[in-house]
Amino acid sequence: MGELLSVREVGKTYTGAKGQQVTALADVDLDVAEGEVVALIGPSGCGKSTLLRMIAGLDGAFDGELTWTKPPRPGKDIGFVFQEPALLPWRSVERNVSLGLEALRDNSSEARQRVRDLLELVGLADFAQCFPKELSGGMRQRAAIARALAYDPRILLMDEPFGALDAITRDRLHDDLLRIWEATRKTIILVTHSVEEATYLADRVAVMSARPGRIKAVHHVPLDRDRDPSTRRLPQFAEFAGMLRQELE
Ligand SMILES: Nc1ncnc2c1ncn2[C@@H]1O[C@H](COP(=O)(O)OP(=O)(O)OP(=O)(O)O)[C@@H](O)[C@H]1O
Ligand SMILES: [Mg+2]
Repeated sequence: MGELLSVREVGKTYTGAKGQQVTALADVDLDVAEGEVVALIGPSGCGKSTLLRMIAGLDGAFDGELTWTKPPRPGKDIGFVFQEPALLPWRSVERNVSLGLEALRDNSSEARQRVRDLLELVGLADFAQCFPKELSGGMRQRAAIARALAYDPRILLMDEPFGALDAITRDRLHDDLLRIWEATRKTIILVTHSVEEATYLADRVAVMSARPGRIKAVHHVPLDRDRDPSTRRLPQFAEFAGMLRQELE
């Protein structure tokens, strides 16, 4: 696995509506290898979404440096799942999922099939023609995940993608994401509040401190890459998740 991204001394200060300054991030250092799954965990407000948006290129105003060995092409290489599923209300579920493909002018039959397969994968095949307002919060989140995968980006940035889901759907999508990763070896940066989710999905877990956010520690997950539901019952799993929880406290 070669190096893909290095984040060096990245800092971010927002100026609020009343002119007050909020330092969201300070001196963040993080390396991400190609094909790796990195989880970012940390207390609410520590700058996880801020960091992810910078990596996505959605916010260019920050201190420090982001260096890519293979710079991502805009609209092609990065799929982003936002913390709030940002679906377009006037488009059906299917046409939300195919949005990125339309932007790339990819109307091939494979692309259309992929949209149908993804809707199947996230359990929304029967809702393809519905509008976002007709979906539950969890269903909207699943549509947003399908949309991020639709154009097959090589980098997937996910901001608490499973937060609004019930436990059964969440576990199923965890396993789907593992399978997608095994088949495609995408580089994934995943923000989560769940130490179990981080342990189950990631190769490494970066723990952030409270605002201003810094990377407090980065841990290798001591589990084989081949994971399935039985992995959750291993003693190392509970031990590692427990260690992460302690580090967050
Ligand atoms: N557009 C903005 N203008 C001003 N302040 C902002 C803006 N966006 C974020 N902040 C501030 O930056 C800090 C970090 O916010 P961010 O959304 O990155 O946190 P987070 O770690 O993702 O939190 P959560 O886990 O609750 O999603 C917060 O204090 C927030 O108030
Ligand atoms: Mg956030």
